[in-house]
Amino acid sequence: MGDKLRIGIIGTGGISQVHIKAYQSFDDVEIVAGADIIPGKARQVLDKFGLTDAKDFDNHEDLCKMKGIDAVSICTYNSAHAVCTIDALNAGLHVLLEKPMCVTMEEAYNMVRAEKKSGKILSIGFQPRYNPNCIKIKQIVSSGALGKIYYVQTGGSRRRGIPGSTFIDRDKAAFGAIGDLGCYSIDLAMNTIGHPKPLTVSAYTSDYFGKNPKYYKESERFSVDDFSVALIRLENDIVMDYRMAWAMHMDKCSDFVILGTDAGLKITTPEKPPLWGSIIDGNFGHIYLMHDVCDEPVTTEISLPREQVNQFTAKIRDFVDAVKENRPAPIPTKEIIYNQAIIDAMVRSAKERREIKIEIPSDIF
Ligand SMILES: NC(=O)c1ccc[n+]([C@@H]2O[C@H](COP(=O)([O-])OP(=O)(O)OC[C@H]3O[C@@H](n4cnc5c(N)ncnc54)[C@H](O)[C@@H]3O)[C@@H](O)[C@H]2O)c1
Repeated sequence: MGDKLRIGIIGTGGISQVHIKAYQSFDDVEIVAGADIIPGKARQVLDKFGLTDAKDFDNHEDLCKMKGIDAVSICTYNSAHAVCTIDALNAGLHVLLEKPMCVTMEEAYNMVRAEKKSGKILSIGFQPRYNPNCIKIKQIVSSGALGKIYYVQTGGSRRRGIPGSTFIDRDKAAFGAIGDLGCYSIDLAMNTIGHPKPLTVSAYTSDYFGKNPKYYKESERFSVDDFSVALIRLENDIVMDYRMAWAMHMDKCSDFVILGTDAGLKITTPEKPPLWGSIIDGNFGHIYLMHDVCDEPVTTEISLPREQVNQFTAKIRDFVDAVKENRPAPIPTKEIIYNQAIIDAMVRSAKERREIKIEIPSDIF
C-alpha cells in the first residue's frame, strides 16, 4: 500500500456520490476507479467530481482485477451487495459496503466466509453509529442505569415518504422500508443493548400505499413492502418491538423505548415524527429516564450532545483508518449478521404467516 489509500467505487448511483465526496476530503486517499453496469454512468460520475484520471468500468469484476486498488466502496442496490463484496474480497480488496448487508442468509454466510478467507476488512455502512446521540444512549444503557433490559421498541415512520428509483423494485432492492430504514432501527436497538442473539421473529408486512395509485404515482412498479411490524425474541429474555412505515395514516408509529428493571429510557420526537430521520440528521428530540426516587416515580430529561457530526464522513474515515492501521472492521459482520437474520426472518414470517426460528450456524465465526 502506498502513501495514499487507493479506492474504487462499485455502483455509481445516488449514495456513491456521498462516498466520493468524503474520500475527496481526505489528503491520504485517492479514488482510482469506478464501475457501474449502466454503460457510461461510472465515467459520468467520476468526471462530475473531477476524477478524470480515474478508470471507469462497466462491471465490478474488471474493477476488482485492476492493479493498484487497496479498497472499494460498494454502493450498488441491495441485490448486488453479496456478489460484489465476495468478488472484491476474493481479489484481495478491503470493502466498505452500504447497508443492508445483503438479501439472503446464504449470501451473508458466503460473504463472511470470503471475508475470513481473504483476511481483509468488511465493514457495513451504518453511519448512525457515529451519531453523538446514539453514542450517548449506548453509554447510558451500558452504564447499567436501567438494570436488566427486557424490552426495546424501535422503528420509525413517514406519513408519506415512499422513495422511487431502484428502492421500490424487488429485483434490485429486495426489501422496501425494511431494508431501507428498518435495518437502521434494528441496528440502533441491537447496538445500544449489546447485540444479543436473535431467536425468533413474528412479523407482518403490507404494501397498501405503494400499490395504490391514489398515494403513489409509480404504483404499477411498486413490488416491495411499505409497512412492517415484528416481535423479535432475543437471548437473555429480551423482546424487541419493531414498527416501520414508508407511508401510513398516522404521524408516527413508534418511539425508541428501552425498559429495564431499574429504569426506562424514552427517546421521542413530538415535533418531528420520523424518529429514523432524527437519527440520521443527528438531532433527537428528547430523551427521558423514568425511574424511582425514594419509591416515587420520577422523570428526568437527559441532555444530549447537540453537536453536528457528518456521520458519512466519520464512517468513511473510520474505514480508511482501520485499513491503514490494520484494525478490525469498525462495523463488523459478526454484529450485522444478526441484523440480516432478523430482516430475513421478518420477510419469511410475513410471507408464511408464522413465527420463524433463527438459527445461525455456530461455525460461521
Ligand atoms: N447509508 C445511507 O444513508 C444510504 C442512503 C441511500 C442508499 N443507501 C444504500 O446504498 C445502496 C445504493 O443506493 P442508491 O440510492 O445509490 O441506489 P442507485 O440505484 O441510485 O445506485 C446503485 C447503482 O449500482 C449500480 N449497480 C448495480 N449492480 C452493479 C454491479 N454489479 N456492478 C456495478 N454497478 C452496479 C446500478 O446500475 C446503480 O447505478 C443501497 O444498498 C441503499 O440501501 C444507503
